[in-house]
Amino acid sequence: RLKGVIFDLDGVLTDTAEDHYQAWQALADSHGFAFDRQANHRLKGVDRRNSLRLILEHAGAEVEAERFDAMLAEKNDIYRERLAAYSPANLFAGVGALLDGLRAAGLKIGLASASRNALDVVRLLGIADQFDFIADAGAVANAKPAPDIFLACAHGMGLRPDQCIGIEDAEAGVSAIHAAGMVAIGIGSEEALPDADMHVPATGQLTVANILSFERGAAA
Ligand code: BG6
Ligand code: MG
Repeated sequence: RLKGVIFDLDGVLTDTAEDHYQAWQALADSHGFAFDRQANHRLKGVDRRNSLRLILEHAGAEVEAERFDAMLAEKNDIYRERLAAYSPANLFAGVGALLDGLRAAGLKIGLASASRNALDVVRLLGIADQFDFIADAGAVANAKPAPDIFLACAHGMGLRPDQCIGIEDAEAGVSAIHAAGMVAIGIGSEEALPDADMHVPATGQLTVANILSFERGAAA
């Protein structure tokens, strides 16, 4: 029986996925490393350090540890400058109503983002109070695609993983949800997220009714 719904943040509740991409692109450009929107696909849902590793791998480059850390800080500064413009208007259409509906249905709501900026982002979006638990990416041992953050979120809500559903826009995130023993709703196309158990083009198109019926179908 479904008791909780665990959301990813970037690309699921708001369009920060685009701001992460723009910040990485600006960083790569200023350091002269080849990078583009296509290469960015592999970075979705991946934490900051591993993202930079993938960028350097893509560019066939290596940098020493000190420069690596400086680049991480530089990217985060660019990203946070973009975040400064965020407000509740940046919440994807329909998400506010979905969260209200889930709560009214007696379901718990969790956040499992790989982002160390997640708490600031949900505050800027005006939805920080909607979550029963916000898992801390800095407090888990292994990043997505490992299950840690989804397990920590279920635990924080006082639920077993099999009582939760996860919602993700990234392959690494769908893998993390499955590794945690949960069913996964994919935001995006079937081609982009072949492993997700159900797909919707946008989070705002989900309803409490279709989440509940999907859950019953998956359990049957
Ligand atoms: C994920 C995003 O949610 O968080 C990634 O999909 C991002 O693009 C990652 O790199 C880490 O975010 P942050 O804010 O800690 O750099
Ligand atoms: Mg995401």
